[in-house]
Amino acid sequence: MILVTGAAGKTGRAVIEALVARAQAVRALAHRSEHVGLLKRLGVQEVVVGDMRDQAAADEAARGVRAVYHLAPNLHPEEDVLGQVAIAASRAGGVAHFVYHSVLHPQTEAMPHHWQKLRVEEALLASGLSYTILQPAAYMQNVSAYWDAIWERGVYPVPYAAQTRLGMVDLKDVAEAAALVLTEPGHEGATYELSGPEILSQTETAAILAQQLGRPVRVECVPIEAWKAQARDAGMGDYQVETLVKMFRYYEQHGFWGNPRVLGWLLGRAPTSFAAFVERYIRSQ
Ligand SMILES: NC(=O)c1ccc[n+]([C@@H]2O[C@H](COP(=O)([O-])OP(=O)(O)OC[C@H]3O[C@@H](n4cnc5c(N)ncnc54)[C@H](OP(=O)(O)O)[C@@H]3O)[C@@H](O)[C@H]2O)c1
Repeated sequence: MILVTGAAGKTGRAVIEALVARAQAVRALAHRSEHVGLLKRLGVQEVVVGDMRDQAAADEAARGVRAVYHLAPNLHPEEDVLGQVAIAASRAGGVAHFVYHSVLHPQTEAMPHHWQKLRVEEALLASGLSYTILQPAAYMQNVSAYWDAIWERGVYPVPYAAQTRLGMVDLKDVAEAAALVLTEPGHEGATYELSGPEILSQTETAAILAQQLGRPVRVECVPIEAWKAQARDAGMGDYQVETLVKMFRYYEQHGFWGNPRVLGWLLGRAPTSFAAFVERYIRSQ
């Protein structure tokens, strides 16, 4: 049995699908009972409902499992605490292998959610657990948040400059890599950077969207203050808004990309291109 935390979010669901496709028995830690039905339909065998901050809930979830796949909720202000709780639960439960869903370049202090993941990596190294750390780049799936504007107005709105370069990765490839390291021997003590195959500017990203849709799509650079107002109107909290603004500024200044070779080696094939991702996404709509 493999425990997946943060199970009902987009990463958790993708990892569960990849594990179920490999006929693995999965236990999910879900935040709310409303998610039990969804997780069962994905093929999860057991669901524990609880808060990741609660040591007793984490202990219950980790009891009797062979491996844990730990992922923190996106932009959670206490990610480091959640990681420490999951590590303690895994130690108490005698878990044989702990896989941590970190992020590409966790050592970037300018991005608080990266820095928190570095603290969890540090705790994991000192935990005595057998571990694997996965460091994914930004997901191609993040583009879907802008799908209405892309589809209806031919506009790809981004809160950074058009020349900002990103090496986005397909979450489906990340989930497949996760399933591999959870089920194959030989990944103990490894830290794997999972980056996409291309480094694209926002202009190039819009051009691929246009090519796949067969109609014009142009980048629209949204000023940070306007983006903040929209995010606050949508109910986003202060930590999340401020952290994302820091991330956007970092992306604009330095870009955010890694090297795709490790992911290609793990998958035994080239990682998915952005064009192939968009084609698949359009077909799924
Ligand atoms: N998006 C990217 O491009 C990217 C790239 C690399 C790494 N990552 C990392 O991937 C991780 C997962 O991101 P995601 O977008 O898949 O996450 P997500 O959609 O935010 O999902 C997280 C899940 O955790 C649950 N949750 C929230 N608070 C909880 C708590 N206190 N106790 C238990 N469960 C709780 C949420 O349930 P509720 O909705 O019911 O609260 C949700 O089902 C994050 O750490 C993120 O930094 C993301």
